[in-house]
Amino acid sequence: MTTIYLIRHAEAEGNVYRRCHGQYDSLLTERAYQQLPYLAQRFADVPLDAVYASDLYRARHTAKAIADAKGMKVLADEAHGTHFYFGKDLPVSAMEAGADIASVSMHKSGGSLTQSSFLLTGEGMQPGYVRQIINLTQTTSGSYLLLSSLDISRSNLALRGEESFQRVTALAEYARGEINQIGDYYAFGREMINGDSIYDFDPTKLSIHTLDIGLAGIEVYDILRDEYDIQIEFGDLGNILAYLSIGDRIREVERLVTALADLKRRYKKDKTGMLSQEYISPKVVMTPQDSFYAEKESLPLEQTRGRVCSEFVMCYPPGIPVLAPGEEITDEIIQYIVYAKEKGCSMTGPEDEKIERLNVLRDR
Ligand SMILES: Cc1ncc(COP(=O)(O)O)c(C=O)c1O
Repeated sequence: MTTIYLIRHAEAEGNVYRRCHGQYDSLLTERAYQQLPYLAQRFADVPLDAVYASDLYRARHTAKAIADAKGMKVLADEAHGTHFYFGKDLPVSAMEAGADIASVSMHKSGGSLTQSSFLLTGEGMQPGYVRQIINLTQTTSGSYLLLSSLDISRSNLALRGEESFQRVTALAEYARGEINQIGDYYAFGREMINGDSIYDFDPTKLSIHTLDIGLAGIEVYDILRDEYDIQIEFGDLGNILAYLSIGDRIREVERLVTALADLKRRYKKDKTGMLSQEYISPKVVMTPQDSFYAEKESLPLEQTRGRVCSEFVMCYPPGIPVLAPGEEITDEIIQYIVYAKEKGCSMTGPEDEKIERLNVLRDR
C-alpha cells in the first residue's frame, strides 16, 4: 500500500498579508525558516521513497527541507536547457531552481559534438563520489574528441553565451512574427504561459502548429527536407520544431519562412479527419516491471484490443510513450498507432520494429 502525505508550504509572504498567492512566486518568511526544521523532524522516522513539489519557490523549499534532512537528492533531466544558464529572459535553470544534480546535453543547444554533455553538481554533492559511481557503469576510455569539443563550447558560452542566445531569441521571435503572418500556421510563444499547466516557455525554440494547413507536422517535416533541403529537428502529428542554434543567421530563417509560405500554397488541403497529438490517458493495469517480465505472446496489432501491453510504443521524437508495459491497449490507441505510422512518424519501442505486432500478456 502506498501512503501519500500532503503538506502545505511553510509561511510565505502572501500569507502574512492574507493575500491569495495563486501562481505568484512569493518568498518564504523568516518564520517559515523556523517552521521548516520542525517539519523535517516530523518526518525523521517516516520512510519516504520520493518527495514531490510544485515548481513554486515556497513549495520547493518546503519539500527540500524534508528531502535534505533525509539525504534525498533532486536530480533534473535538463537535456534541452544548456542555454538556460546564459540569458535573463530564459526559463529558470535546474541548478538555480535548487536541483542537486542536472544532466545538461551540451550538444543540443551548446554547440559541442553529439553525445557530449555535462553533469552539473550542486553544493551538497561530492563530485569525487559522483565520479566514482559513474565509473561503475561507464567506459574508462573517455573520448578526447568529445572532451575537447565540450571544452571549446564551454569557453565559447562562458565568453559569449548571453549575447549568442539573445540573438537566437531575437531570430526566433522574428520568425514567429513572419510565420504567423502567413496564416494557418501557428508559431506559438510566451502567450501560451497560463500560470498553471504551462509554467514557462523557451523563446529560442521555434515550434509551429501545422494542422490548419491540413498536414501533420511530420508531413511538413518530410516536405521541407525532400523539396526545400531544410532539415528541421522534428515533426509530430500536429507540430514541427525548428531548432535555431547559435550558428544560424537571418538568411536561414528567411529561407524557412519562404519555404513554409510556398509549402502552404502548394499543399494546403482540408483538415477533416486529422488527429491532433492529444495525450491519451493510460489505463494502468500492472506495474511496468511485472508486465515486462511476465509470460507474453506476440499478436497482430489489430488483435490486441483489451489486452495488457508488455512493451513500450512511442513516436520518437519526442519519445513520450503511447503505450508502456502494464497498460491496457484500447481502440483509441490502436487507431493512433495506425494513423501515426501512416503519416510517417518514426516509432520505436516494440520488439517488432514495424509495429505490425505487439507483445501482450498471455491470457490466464
Ligand atoms: C528529455 C530528454 N532527456 C534526455 C535526452 C538524451 O540526452 P543525450 O542525447 O544527451 O543523451 C533527450 C534527448 O533527446 C531528451 O529529449
